[in-house]
Amino acid sequence: MKAAILGYGTVGSGVGEIIGSLCAKGIEVAHILERTENLHKHPLMCDDINVILNDEEVDVVVETMGGIEPAHTFIMAALNAKKHVVSANKAVIARYMEEFHACADANGVRFLYEASCGGGIPWLHNLYNALRIDEIDEIHGIFNGTTNYILDHMEKEQAQFDVILAKAQQLGYAESDPSADIDGIDIQNKLRISATIAFQGNVPLTFPVFGIRNINKTDIDYAASLHKKIKLPAIAKRVDDRYYAAVEPTLYEETQTEASISENFNLTCLHGATIGDLKFYGQGAGKLPTANAVVQDILDLHENIDTQPKNQNKALRVDTSLVCGTYIVRTDAPEALINELFTDFYVKKEVFKDNTYYWMEHISSYMMHQKVKELCNTDGNVFFAQIAEVNA
Ligand code: HSE
Repeated sequence: MKAAILGYGTVGSGVGEIIGSLCAKGIEVAHILERTENLHKHPLMCDDINVILNDEEVDVVVETMGGIEPAHTFIMAALNAKKHVVSANKAVIARYMEEFHACADANGVRFLYEASCGGGIPWLHNLYNALRIDEIDEIHGIFNGTTNYILDHMEKEQAQFDVILAKAQQLGYAESDPSADIDGIDIQNKLRISATIAFQGNVPLTFPVFGIRNINKTDIDYAASLHKKIKLPAIAKRVDDRYYAAVEPTLYEETQTEASISENFNLTCLHGATIGDLKFYGQGAGKLPTANAVVQDILDLHENIDTQPKNQNKALRVDTSLVCGTYIVRTDAPEALINELFTDFYVKKEVFKDNTYYWMEHISSYMMHQKVKELCNTDGNVFFAQIAEVNA
């Protein structure tokens, strides 16, 4: 099987390395699409997508460019040229997955994207597997290596956010624009893809997201004083045709599994009626783990293994009552404003190392996001987090 790799950055070059070490398995790289200024770096490089589209020997196009364009155009062109496509690019998949699948079906080829969610964890394959027997009613977990690394190392190194973010970039975990990581957008893309598969209907990119841009060292210390750790998980729940999805910082008890996830690792979890809870743990970012997931998809194509179910396109609607709980908000805004915004929910305040934390109870995640948006108009540095239930 001949592959063409679009983009030879962190993940693309990892795919090249792994395929290089697997020659005996019958997979070969035929072309690498790169920018003109990079062509001298590898004999297989070209800067014209038509060389790849017109090469009848190319069976699979591997898209590891990232970004929306030209990735979207190239994926569609490859599918229309009747080539299978394997992509690691969660941003473009989150926007166009239905269009890509329809185009692949129309052309009798396949569109696979295991590496887009959970890095090296075989997460999507395990969703497919669970769906053979169960309906999935919940997925949640830690889906971003960069933010997990930052939260972990701010505590371990007693360092500020910017210092650790720079390290995550050096290690190849962060997106080229790291705001996608720290604002939760990368997790939103992964949750949109995962929940659409898990719930077998369209879960669009419209659910609330709050990242860790505003987190400070005192927030980490405050969590530690409560024997908790801050993480940035995703959650999606479904009951019948109703669902709710969100990305929001969460404080886990030190004894909870999520609290123990360190470095660039991810923990992706599903719940099904007969299987109960399943949790998958592995490196969620980085060159070779992510490239490994890409090559697994290529091997599936080569060995004609197909476990990906067709989406049932179930009609789903949002139910904001499905995720409610206890939250803290750290803000310098006047207490009167907190009273006004959070009437009925505000239960207490705690001052810790000059930071003021307000506690809210019995409030929906959706309402928290709405209220915090309003609060941000007064205090641009606000941080909030859910307090995870200990048996969650
Ligand atoms: N920036 C992403 C992360 C890369 O940190 O998880 C893997 O998707």
